[in-house]
Amino acid sequence: MNSEFFNMNAENEVVIVGIGGSLRKGSFSRKVLEKAADLMPGGSSLRIADISTIPVFNSDYVKEPDKSVIEFKKLVLESDGFLIVTPEYNYSVPGFLKNVIDWASVPNNVFATKIGAIMSSSTGMMGGSRAQYHLRQSFVFLDSRIINRPEVIINFVDKKINEKGEFADENAIKFMRELLSNLVAEVLVQKSKKS
Ligand SMILES: Cc1cc2nc3c(=O)[nH]c(=O)nc-3n(C[C@H](O)[C@H](O)[C@H](O)COP(=O)(O)O)c2cc1C
Repeated sequence: MNSEFFNMNAENEVVIVGIGGSLRKGSFSRKVLEKAADLMPGGSSLRIADISTIPVFNSDYVKEPDKSVIEFKKLVLESDGFLIVTPEYNYSVPGFLKNVIDWASVPNNVFATKIGAIMSSSTGMMGGSRAQYHLRQSFVFLDSRIINRPEVIINFVDKKINEKGEFADENAIKFMRELLSNLVAEVLVQKSKKS
């Protein structure tokens, strides 16, 4: 697995794993995820997982999964929290992303008690909100601690990319910054309880 570090990690830094819901070259949700990496509060960093080679889920292989699954699960376990940026497919979570979450949930659920945040983006008017709520529902079963506020729902995302190809909507960026700050703050509370 070839994950990318966006900010260099100092010792004791909060490390959040970033999970994107689209493999498409030029993916808008990927651009939002990359923007989130830039917006991480001081003392934290976002590590974007490469989940492009994770196979289609099959329960027959959960005890001896593909190397890409083992590495992804390890990355989540070793991270202090997670951030998912998902598009919406047919009013729900893209199958590709749900597939990755399914692998990560059995036989050991690496998302259990993890603190996470979810953002959605789509080219449509609803900004992937239906996908985001379906995803939140899965994380209830997975017993994760998802930060509820603010909701980051980015509609017409294709119109919010600048000439450099970066996500650049000031209003959305304000909410992204706030959500990431709440995520890291909650991680620090959890860490302080453990130490
Ligand atoms: C199979 C498929 C289903 C889609 N369904 C929805 C949908 O239900 N709601 C929506 O807002 N956009 C929908 N879209 C449009 C996506 O929001 C748009 O393609 C988006 O750019 C995908 O994310 P990406 O740019 O990160 O790949 C759909 C696109 C595809 C390919």
